[in-house]
Amino acid sequence: MGGTPGGGSSSGPQWALILGASSGTGAAIAEAVARRPGLDVFGVHRGRYADSAARMEQAVRGAGRRVELWQADASTPESAEAGAEALRRLAGPRSVKLFVHSIAGASMGHFLSRGEDRLHARRIRRTFDTMAHSFVYWAQALVEADLLAPEARLLGLQNPLDETLLPNTALVSASKAALEMYVRHLAVELGPLGHRVNLLKFGTVMTPALKHVYSPEALARLEQAHARMNPAGRMCTVEEVARFVTVLAGEDAAWFNGATIDFSGGMTLKLLDLVLNP
Ligand SMILES: NC(=O)c1ccc[n+]([C@@H]2O[C@H](COP(=O)([O-])OP(=O)(O)OC[C@H]3O[C@@H](n4cnc5c(N)ncnc54)[C@H](OP(=O)(O)O)[C@@H]3O)[C@@H](O)[C@H]2O)c1
Repeated sequence: MGGTPGGGSSSGPQWALILGASSGTGAAIAEAVARRPGLDVFGVHRGRYADSAARMEQAVRGAGRRVELWQADASTPESAEAGAEALRRLAGPRSVKLFVHSIAGASMGHFLSRGEDRLHARRIRRTFDTMAHSFVYWAQALVEADLLAPEARLLGLQNPLDETLLPNTALVSASKAALEMYVRHLAVELGPLGHRVNLLKFGTVMTPALKHVYSPEALARLEQAHARMNPAGRMCTVEEVARFVTVLAGEDAAWFNGATIDFSGGMTLKLLDLVLNP
């Protein structure tokens, strides 16, 4: 027994389970946690980013850690159960030190418009499955399979669209609001077992998810706007976010629980000033 409130310890290597490890934030986090604290990586993705998946695998192996990619749609309870089973076969019980939910799949649009832009019921359900409900499905599957290592960390990712609204992003904000509540309730349920569940909020970083939504011209405007908005005068990077996740995975961050941790660099602090003094 490890003497922790959760009881028990994993004797083998510790793993990071990362949903969305093949690209953007998830890939950067996989690389960072392989270096520090030195976790093996079990990544889930659907296979659309083969090149960046291969780069991530190479970087993790370069750090001397093991990496396994599992291809599936991570948004369903069935895939969470199957993924947990595959991970348990590979890593054994109580091996997951860090779980990161980094999948992106929100429908953009408006509730009342007509045609393709309309946020109809299927798009609403799909977005909530991907962006919010799946966090719960995987947390449940990890507990059922006894996969959480002592003092495990579970992390959801949030953006500042809960502070200021952008047209088209209603489902992003609404599903993230649900995710925030899931995180708090799971923090209460898992806290007595020694685990910690948090939400990391960060500002815009350039990833394929953004490139999927915006044209190259719009991306250039976005970058300029962020240079004006962010007090630091530039956009945040995925590497900066990933490095901070290594801090959250460490012992010194053990008292964060049920928290929405603001790593947005003050991205929305100057919005009123920018409107009044364009
Ligand atoms: N980018 C930002 O500015 C920003 C800011 C704050 C918070 N965030 C949050 O960070 C997270 C990651 O965003 P990102 O920008 O890094 O996205 P991204 O670059 O598009 O990466 C998304 C990853 O998730 C995988 N994925 C998507 N849907 C999936 C599904 N149903 N099943 C399995 N894998 C799936 C993708 O691979 P496949 O498509 O091949 O499956 C990819 O590996 C999101 O929760 C996002 O809201 C992003």
